[in-house]
Amino acid sequence: MSFSWLKPSKHPIIVAHRGSSALAPENTLASFRQAIADGADAIELDVRLSKDNEVVVFHDRRVDRTTNGSGLVKDLTLFELKKLNAGGWFHRRFSGETIPTLDEVFEVIGGRVGINIEIKADDRHEKALNILERGIELINKHQAADFVLISSFDDMVIRQAKILQPEIATGILYSPLKNFRLSIHQLMKRTNAHIFISARSYLKRIIVSNLHEKNIKVGTYTINDELSLIRVMKKGVDFIYSDNPAKIFNMRHLKNKIGVMVSLSNHDFLT
Ligand code: G3P
Ligand code: MG
Repeated sequence: MSFSWLKPSKHPIIVAHRGSSALAPENTLASFRQAIADGADAIELDVRLSKDNEVVVFHDRRVDRTTNGSGLVKDLTLFELKKLNAGGWFHRRFSGETIPTLDEVFEVIGGRVGINIEIKADDRHEKALNILERGIELINKHQAADFVLISSFDDMVIRQAKILQPEIATGILYSPLKNFRLSIHQLMKRTNAHIFISARSYLKRIIVSNLHEKNIKVGTYTINDELSLIRVMKKGVDFIYSDNPAKIFNMRHLKNKIGVMVSLSNHDFLT
């Protein structure tokens, strides 16, 4: 596996957000396979713990939106979660999809693309730290340290990841609402994360250039349309998270609009 979050061979890197989640149900093996078929460089997925402490790939706290079940993920055992239909809500042809475990994702997707594991941190800190510990066990079991990125909105999780396994790439997810007590400068100093990842609405060109000066790479989400792509490309971001990587790759006709920036900053995007 040659993919590296720290020394990417392309610019920008296209990350399939929850897999190719515009074309297949988010955070399922189908969406990850679709991402590979679409040519994505990496996938992003969200992880939580089941009631019996298994690391499951799931975005929301509750299973209701994206399965036929009801209740909190943390109140259901892996056995109970596995019985749910995690694809039928998207389209009936995906009705065979189940909630994957992180273990399964490593088994099936392996090192074919980079894997960004987002540790969900909307429960207590301790819970997020438990997810991290279990996640690192699985990363090591699958010898995946070279091609994973651990990210979280919780700065404590990123700090702890550095302590537990400093060679794993880390990304801090920024939100003025969630990290409200810290400036970007403080957040980076505190976490020492390799990558700063922000919603596109918070990202300014000056923020990107300041971070680049400090050798910190920048990612942004979620980029699904032309205007957003042009804007973030002009800001010089390194990682673009999209629900639809195939659509992004098809925006070759934008080359003229972003060409000036491309030649200035040596991007090889759309070439
Ligand atoms: O990693 C970027 C993005 O996934 C963070 O937000 O809610 O889609 O997990 P969310
Ligand atoms: Mg996420």
